[in-house]
Amino acid sequence: MSKLEEFTKEQAPHIEDVMIRFITEQTSDPKLAESILYSINAGGKRIRPLLLVATVAAFDKPIDLAVYQCCAALEMIHTYSLIHDDLPAMDDDDLRRGKPTNHIVYGEALAILAGDGLLTAAFQLLSMADIEAVKKVLLLQQLSQAAGTKGMVSGQAADVQGENQDLGLKELMGIHARKTGELIRFAVVAGGVLADQSETILVELDRFAQHIGLAFQIRDDLLDVISTTEELGKVVHRDDALAKSTYPALLGLDGAKQALSDELTKAKQILAQLSTYGQFDPTMLTAFIERFEVKENL
Ligand code: IPE
Ligand code: IPE
Ligand code: MG
Ligand code: MG
Ligand code: MG
Repeated sequence: MSKLEEFTKEQAPHIEDVMIRFITEQTSDPKLAESILYSINAGGKRIRPLLLVATVAAFDKPIDLAVYQCCAALEMIHTYSLIHDDLPAMDDDDLRRGKPTNHIVYGEALAILAGDGLLTAAFQLLSMADIEAVKKVLLLQQLSQAAGTKGMVSGQAADVQGENQDLGLKELMGIHARKTGELIRFAVVAGGVLADQSETILVELDRFAQHIGLAFQIRDDLLDVISTTEELGKVVHRDDALAKSTYPALLGLDGAKQALSDELTKAKQILAQLSTYGQFDPTMLTAFIERFEVKENL
């Protein structure tokens, strides 16, 4: 088992416990709770919260309940974004995390409400978290900005409007940075905040995360073309069917792979830079970069 697999196996259950406990305790309608827990328990790679934990750990700070609560809030927002992303009015997908999508099982109304519930509960959880007040307000502000109308939601809006359009690379990069990059930025910067890092370090972490975030969506675009439904747990070739603007559509497979590799190289350079500031162990964050690298079949 690789170091990253070991780390995932050790950390993911803590994040999942917090999510499941909070949703179970705070949801009054049994069917709504079932629909929310269906998507939470469907799995998922938990990349964003794991990046958050890895960032805190890189500064050799304790991984306590506060960290897991922040992770849980982030993963809940991500899961809501997927439930809504799959709706017929958006990407109209039937399979997610290897299972029928939420609206296929519970119907559109409950799927929409499961998303609404997860989004709201995420902020409720973070507001009640075991974090000192000033820091908590900062995290609430950063998460709302990342998830909201300047962040993920605006990226999703641009993504659907970009269907059947000939977008340029700059526009596409802007969509990817918002729809996917912003939550990944939050993961890493929040890790820095929870680890009590200086503004200088937070700025570097932010730059690192922007490259990782863009890389992650370029990779997602590539996987939709070259991977399989079994491997991904979601139906492939959907971007082409929906005439989405994607990196492979714009740059071709090789161009998209090159763009992915360029982003990862820049991310690695920033990690090297961060390592010169003192107490910072880049091992696990480097393992994430390596996981995102283009391999034989990705
Ligand atoms: C899929 O995210 C949607 C994107 C923003 C690319 P993930 O690939 O992290 O999905 P899960 O959480 O593992 O299912
Ligand atoms: C989804 O991007 C981004 C968000 C959910 C915010 P995609 O539409 O490419 O994600 P997949 O491919 O359905 O997972
Ligand atoms: Mg989409
Ligand atoms: Mg989609
Ligand atoms: Mg995709």
